[in-house]
Amino acid sequence: MRPKWPAWLPLREDLQELTPYGAPQLESIAQLNTNENPFPPSKALVDAIAAKASDVAKTLNRYPDRDAIELRKMLAIFINEREGTAFSGENIWPANGSNEVIQSLFLAFGGRTALGFVPSYSMHPLIAQNTSTTWVKADRENDFSINVPLACEQIRSTKPEMVFLTTPNNPTGTSISIADITKIAQTVADVGALLVIDEAYAEFSQEPSATTLISNNPHVVVVRTMSKAFAFAGARVGYLVASPVAVDAMKIVRLPYHLSAMTQAIAIVALEHRVELLRSVDALISSRNRIAEELAHLGLPVLPSSANFLLFGVNSPTKVWQSLLDQGVLIRDVGLSGYLRVTIGNEAENSLFISALQKTLRGQA
Ligand SMILES: Cc1ncc(COP(=O)(O)O)c(C=O)c1O
Repeated sequence: MRPKWPAWLPLREDLQELTPYGAPQLESIAQLNTNENPFPPSKALVDAIAAKASDVAKTLNRYPDRDAIELRKMLAIFINEREGTAFSGENIWPANGSNEVIQSLFLAFGGRTALGFVPSYSMHPLIAQNTSTTWVKADRENDFSINVPLACEQIRSTKPEMVFLTTPNNPTGTSISIADITKIAQTVADVGALLVIDEAYAEFSQEPSATTLISNNPHVVVVRTMSKAFAFAGARVGYLVASPVAVDAMKIVRLPYHLSAMTQAIAIVALEHRVELLRSVDALISSRNRIAEELAHLGLPVLPSSANFLLFGVNSPTKVWQSLLDQGVLIRDVGLSGYLRVTIGNEAENSLFISALQKTLRGQA
């Protein structure tokens, strides 16, 4: 329901027609709608977090480290180990989830025009709107891939200040090759814009990360998160990987002490447990591949996914979504005609999803 704003409330005119963003939070047995990692932290990690939280609690009368120096160093170590890069903490800017990183990018570089390829992560245009930035929708092909020459043409004719690429893309799960990103990066440099690559799901993909382009392309900035592969969504930790001068721009727009002492400390503990945490990625990839096959066996079109979710085609998305929910399975209707998105869950959730879908399709036949 759209809120009716009272006349006395001086809400900005361009926000009056909007409703709050968010996936439905509904009771379900299998919660497969927000691309979370289904595996809770191990006892060892819970104990380590609790011990660290107890230490930090003794210092909560003080503000946290405004520049999150230790956390930034740890994040740089993680990215270097994974991507073979040579970043220091100066290349990293952490915040409360990658959504806050994206908002900071808009605060620093927006207010004019940003371009993104639709369909993609719906928060990009929403944050654009919140920061009075004009959002230009660029096209994808029918299979949701990006036609690089056409993309470059659109960038040249629009001349935006920021170009967004999400890879692997949400909600499609598809990824862009590093060779194609490199070509787009050149055009983005030619028009004097910033290329923002949202890599929220990078750990699930075989493609090299765009962080490897930053040393030769200072206008490329990469948004990452601990919400997905690290199974740390509740802690709210996302980060930017960028050239130090782009990180300096983040410091202009950040709120003072934006990242709590508790968040910084427990994120460091999670990073110390990274080997254990990232083991879930392989398990999720093999479940994803298996579910993709099962969907194909059911005769449903499935997009090739490099993420922890799958986009698949059905005849009546709204009816299928409701029927699955009635059977305790919550997936996501992303508003894309003819498609639904399912997050990969644990074994029990995945089995429930497939059997509920089989029942639904039989009922429709
Ligand atoms: C592409 C993409 N970027 C960013 C985010 C935000 O993640 P968070 O704010 O939890 O880091 C999401 C969450 O689903 C996403 O799909």
